[in-house]
Amino acid sequence: MIIEKIKLTNFRNYKKIDLTFNKGLNLFYGSNGSGKTNLAEAIYFLSLTKSFRTNNELNLINLEENDFALINAYIEKGKNYKKIDVFISKNGKKISLDNKNITRISELSNEVNILYFLPRDVNLFKESPKVRRNFFNIAISKQFKEYLKLLNSYEKILKNRNELLKEENVDLKLLDVYTDQLISYSKNIYKYRKDYFLKLNVFLPDIYKKISMKQSLIHLVYLPFVNDLENYNSIAKEKYKEALENDLKNKRTTIGIHLEDFYILLDKKNITLCGSQGENRMAVLSLKLVPYFLINEKENKPIIILDDVLSELDEINKTNLLNFLKTFEQVFITSTYKIDQKDITNYLIKNNSVLKEETYD
Ligand SMILES: Nc1ncnc2c1ncn2[C@@H]1O[C@H](COP(=O)(O)OP(=O)(O)O)[C@@H](O)[C@H]1O
Ligand SMILES: [Mg+2]
Repeated sequence: MIIEKIKLTNFRNYKKIDLTFNKGLNLFYGSNGSGKTNLAEAIYFLSLTKSFRTNNELNLINLEENDFALINAYIEKGKNYKKIDVFISKNGKKISLDNKNITRISELSNEVNILYFLPRDVNLFKESPKVRRNFFNIAISKQFKEYLKLLNSYEKILKNRNELLKEENVDLKLLDVYTDQLISYSKNIYKYRKDYFLKLNVFLPDIYKKISMKQSLIHLVYLPFVNDLENYNSIAKEKYKEALENDLKNKRTTIGIHLEDFYILLDKKNITLCGSQGENRMAVLSLKLVPYFLINEKENKPIIILDDVLSELDEINKTNLLNFLKTFEQVFITSTYKIDQKDITNYLIKNNSVLKEETYD
C-alpha cells in the first residue's frame, strides 16, 4: 500500500499543505524544529487515529488557527483507492473512510498499516513490560482480528475478577468461575503469541544482519505465563491456586497473560542487561520491521515511518539501512540533511511549508 497524497489544514505548524508522495523512499529534511516529526505524525495518525506524541489531540490544531485541524489522505492499495478524512476539533474527532464515518479504530487500522520507529523506541527493552506488551498486542492484532477480540474479552473478565478481589468478602466460587474463563481465553491468546514469536524469530536475524552487517545471533525470548499447550489448563489452574493468597492480599490478579513479557538475546546475552545503545537501536529497528515480511500481498504491505534514525547511525549502518529501505513499498524518513540519490525523493521542510524536489537522475 502507498499513501499517494496528503493534505493538511491547521495541523501543527502547517496551515495548508498539499503533498504527493512517491513509492519507495521519501525523505523529509530540514533544520531542527522545522516540522519534520509533525508531518510524520500526521501520516502515522492515519493508521491508529492517534498521535505518537500526545494524548491531547487539541495539541494537533495549529495554535494560530485554533478551530480545527484536518488531514485528508488518499491511499492506493493495488487497484483500489481509499480516501481518509480526519477532522479534529474541541468537540472531538471525526474520521471517515471513503466518506463513511467510522467508529472503531480497527476499521481504519485494517486499511492503513504503518510501522514506525521513533527515537524513544531505542529504549523498548529498558521500558516497563507494559510498553513491550503493547507493541506485540498491536502487532498481532493487525494480523489477526480474532486476537483483538480475544484480548478484549480477556480484559473484561480480568476487570470483573479484579473488582471481585476488591470486595470485603470475596465470593470464592465466583472467583473460580472468572479464573476458568480467564484460563480459556489465555490459552488462545498464548497460541497466537507463541506462533507470532516463532515467526518473528524466523525473520529477525536476517533483517538485523542486513542493517548491522554483523553476523550476530539474535533471538527473541517470549516469557509466557504457562508454556505448555497440551496441559495448559491444568498448569494454569494450579498457578492460580498458588497465587490465590497473593491475589486476595493485593486485591488484584497478580499472574496471567496480561503480565507477559519478552526480551532479546544478542549473541546469547540479554540485550536489556548488556546491549549497547547502538545494539538496542538496531535490534528494535529490526524487530519493528519484521511485520513487513509477514504480509505477502504487495498491496497490503505496511508503510514505514522512521523518525530521526539516520542521525544516530554511523556511515556504514546508514548506507546499509538506506539500501535496505529502498526495497520497501513506501518509506518516510526524517533527516536534517538531504540525500541526493536515485530512488530517494527529497522534501525540503522550511518556513512551515514543504517543497517536493525533483528526483535525481
Ligand atoms: N499546534 C501547533 N501549532 C503550531 N506550531 C506547532 C504546534 N505544535 C507544534 N508546533 C511547532 O512545531 C515545531 C516542532 O516541529 P517538529 O516536527 O517536532 O520539528 P522537527 O523538524 O525537529 O521534527 C515547533 O517549533 C513547535 O512550536
Ligand atoms: Mg523531529
